[in-house]
Amino acid sequence: MLFSKVLAALAATTAVSAHTWIWQVSGSTSGLRPIKNGSEYRGNPIQDVSSSSMRCNVGGGSAVTPRNVSPGQQLYFEYAHNTPGPQDDILDPSHIGPCMIYAARGPQATDWVKLWHDGYSGGQWCTIKMIRNRGIYFTIPSNMPSGHWVLRVEVLALHSAYTVGEAQFYMACMDINVSGSNSGTPSPIVRFPGAYSSTEAGVKFNVWTSSYPNPPNGQYPIPGGSVGGFSGSSGGNTGGNNGGQQTTTTQVRTTTQAPRTTTQGNNNNSGGSGSPLYGQW
Ligand SMILES: *[C@@H]1O[C@H](CO)[C@@H](O)[C@H](O)[C@H]1NC(C)=O
Ligand SMILES: *[C@@H]1O[C@H](CO)[C@@H](O)[C@H](O)[C@H]1NC(C)=O
Ligand SMILES: *[C@@H]1O[C@H](CO)[C@@H](O)[C@H](O)[C@H]1NC(C)=O
Repeated sequence: MLFSKVLAALAATTAVSAHTWIWQVSGSTSGLRPIKNGSEYRGNPIQDVSSSSMRCNVGGGSAVTPRNVSPGQQLYFEYAHNTPGPQDDILDPSHIGPCMIYAARGPQATDWVKLWHDGYSGGQWCTIKMIRNRGIYFTIPSNMPSGHWVLRVEVLALHSAYTVGEAQFYMACMDINVSGSNSGTPSPIVRFPGAYSSTEAGVKFNVWTSSYPNPPNGQYPIPGGSVGGFSGSSGGNTGGNNGGQQTTTTQVRTTTQAPRTTTQGNNNNSGGSGSPLYGQW
């Protein structure tokens, strides 16, 4: 049983088309940096965590005209596996793993703060929720400082990550121009490349245990450190920490619910500790 799953994983590594990319955001490509070049398949992962392509993927190094957005505005990062559309399957469900969203001041985008992440929660991997939602919903923090920022939106597929160098990172960057008059300093800061190590626990990770597809003990250490935010902002994030959330700045939700297991504890977003501010997954 387990052995056959390993074989399935090995087969998946050779399936070149079983990948994903963000084709538009909330119905438009405005602000989205191009990935790859010309006819090159845009859904390929980056696997070398020391590569400069870890920042904004191949071809995404230069800023584009930012999209005007407002603090508190929701963005929907729409993914595609092959040809975007209702027939597309978004991502092969073998590609289980976490999702992360970072932001850095544009256009240079060198110092990144993590604004949100989801690894394994509510009895499900983030990428499976992403497939179900055909994307990721993300709300711009209500205290996000105004001006040019770059969002870095990433999913990580772990099906082959039992081998160093085989974790598959899929990221895209989007230039945004945040309205309003918030100021503030992002922290903590990470760099790309640099934020991840090829041998850290969440990057070299074996999903092929007896608890597959769930991680052992339901635990998965998400790469890139803790979720941060903006300090000293004039936008009014002075400590309103809803529901025991780690960050006051980020609210994320999706349109559908994760599957629930009968043995699951509080999987309801009605305000239990650690629950997101809004209904999630
Ligand atoms: C994309 O292709 C063009 C022409 O083929 C080339 O000049 C350019 O350097 C390429 N860009 C990247 C990011 O590879
Ligand atoms: C950014 O938005 C502000 C309004 O919030 C606007 O005045 C400014 O022109 C915008 N900048 C760009 C580059 O679009
Ligand atoms: C969450 O709990 C509330 C209150 O018990 C209940 O009304 C609601 O239906 C629950 N929602 C879900 C999604 O289970």
